[in-house]
Amino acid sequence: MDGRRRATSGFERADTPSTALPFRPHHLAATARGAHDTEPAAAPAPARFREVLGNFATGVTVITALDGPAPVGFTCQAFTSLSLDPPMVSFSVSRDSSTRPRILAAGRFCVNVLAFDQHGLCARFAARGADRFAGVDWWRSPGGCPVLDGSLAWIDCTVEAGYPAGDHMIVVGNVRALSVQREAAPLVYHRGAFANCFPLANTGALPRVC
Ligand SMILES: Cc1cc2nc3c(=O)[nH]c(=O)nc-3n(C[C@H](O)[C@H](O)[C@H](O)COP(=O)(O)O)c2cc1C
Repeated sequence: MDGRRRATSGFERADTPSTALPFRPHHLAATARGAHDTEPAAAPAPARFREVLGNFATGVTVITALDGPAPVGFTCQAFTSLSLDPPMVSFSVSRDSSTRPRILAAGRFCVNVLAFDQHGLCARFAARGADRFAGVDWWRSPGGCPVLDGSLAWIDCTVEAGYPAGDHMIVVGNVRALSVQREAAPLVYHRGAFANCFPLANTGALPRVC
C-alpha cells in the first residue's frame, strides 16, 4: 500500500462518528508523509501566497445576516458547496472580521452569489466604516436574512459549526432554502481583478460527480 492509499484510509477513519474531529495529517502513517518530501521547510510569505493562490479564479458572494434589526454582510470569495446529502455549504471568514461574530450570533446566514454587474456591491461589502446597506435593495429570505436584489442566486443557511483555521474560521452551514434569482453571467475574481466568464465550445460533456 503506498502513501496515497494510506491517506485515503485515514480519512475514512476520521469520517466515522467515533473519531474525534478535526482530522489532522499526523494521524496518517509515517510513509504517507513521503509524498510531501519536496515541500520547502519554511512557510511561504503572505505576498507569495496571495500571488500564487490568486490564480485560482472564484465567484464572489456577499454573506448576509440580521443582527437584531440590523442587516450585516461581507464580501466573500472563500465560499464552497460542501455536501449534497445533507445539503451543506461552507465559507471562510477572517478572525479579524467584525461581521463574523454577528453572523455566528444570528445562527443563520444567506449566501448571495453576485452577478457580473455587481462589482460595486463586491467593493461596498468589503469596505470598512461605511453603511454597507445604504441604498441597497434587499428583501428577507425565508430564514430572515437579507437577499440582495439582482444577485444570481441565494442560499439560506443555519450555522452548523465554526472551525478555527489559521487566521480564518471555516463556517459550515446547513442549507434550508435556496433559489436562482436571475439568469446572468457571474462575477469572477482572478488575480486581484474582476474577470469575464464565458462558456467554451466543443469541450465535451463532463461526468456528473457532484
Ligand atoms: C473579492 C473579495 C473577496 C473577499 N473574500 C473574503 C473571504 O473569503 N473571507 C474574508 O474573511 N474576507 C474576504 N474579503 C474581505 C472582506 O470582505 C472584508 O475584509 C471584510 O468585509 C471586512 O469587514 P468586516 O470587519 O466588517 O467583516 C474579500 C474581499 C474582496 C474584495
